Amino acid sequence: VSSPLALILWALIGYGLGAIPFGLLLARAMGLGNLRQIGSGNIGATNVLRTGNKLAAALTLLLDGGKGAAAVLLARALVAEDAAQLAGLAAFIGHCFPVWLKFKGGKGVATFLGLLLALAWPVGLASCATWLVTALATRISSFSALLAAALSTVWMLVLGHGTMIVLGAALTLLIFWTHRANIARLRTGTEPKIGQK
Ligand code: G3P
Repeated sequence: VSSPLALILWALIGYGLGAIPFGLLLARAMGLGNLRQIGSGNIGATNVLRTGNKLAAALTLLLDGGKGAAAVLLARALVAEDAAQLAGLAAFIGHCFPVWLKFKGGKGVATFLGLLLALAWPVGLASCATWLVTALATRISSFSALLAAALSTVWMLVLGHGTMIVLGAALTLLIFWTHRANIARLRTGTEPKIGQK
């Protein structure tokens, strides 16, 4: 068990990493405009794709996932597993509620998948596969994310990572919260398909 000081430190480092809004920065740097005025207004890869630039969307996915994985792997290498879980959760919270954007950040899906891959790769892979299969079947990013989040706790139990279940439940609740506008659109059948404005 890590010391309280180490846990606080890694929560802050995780938050700081997670709070880097790669989608927003990339879209600006690549001259794609202000993501806040495009599509859903979100700063994630799905919305970057609505600019039509697939490379920018892929980079956003990798970097937003990578910061979640980096927080976990650094904390695990330098401290212990409890710090790694906390750093991953903090990175997710940093992405969704970044202080520099007045706490209005992204929806956390890429960061969620990245931190899961780093914490327990079988759970991460199963969750990525859940997202991918659902996305191929429905072409709806948010629905795929909601299903992947909900099933991640099932994968944790089935794949022998029950110690992650509290983290999984917390992440699932937060993902449903960050997707509340998407859930409203899904209910009215107005949620756009991947790549559509
Ligand atoms: O990763 C976020 C995705 O699930 C939904 O994004 O832009 O369609 O709200 P968006």
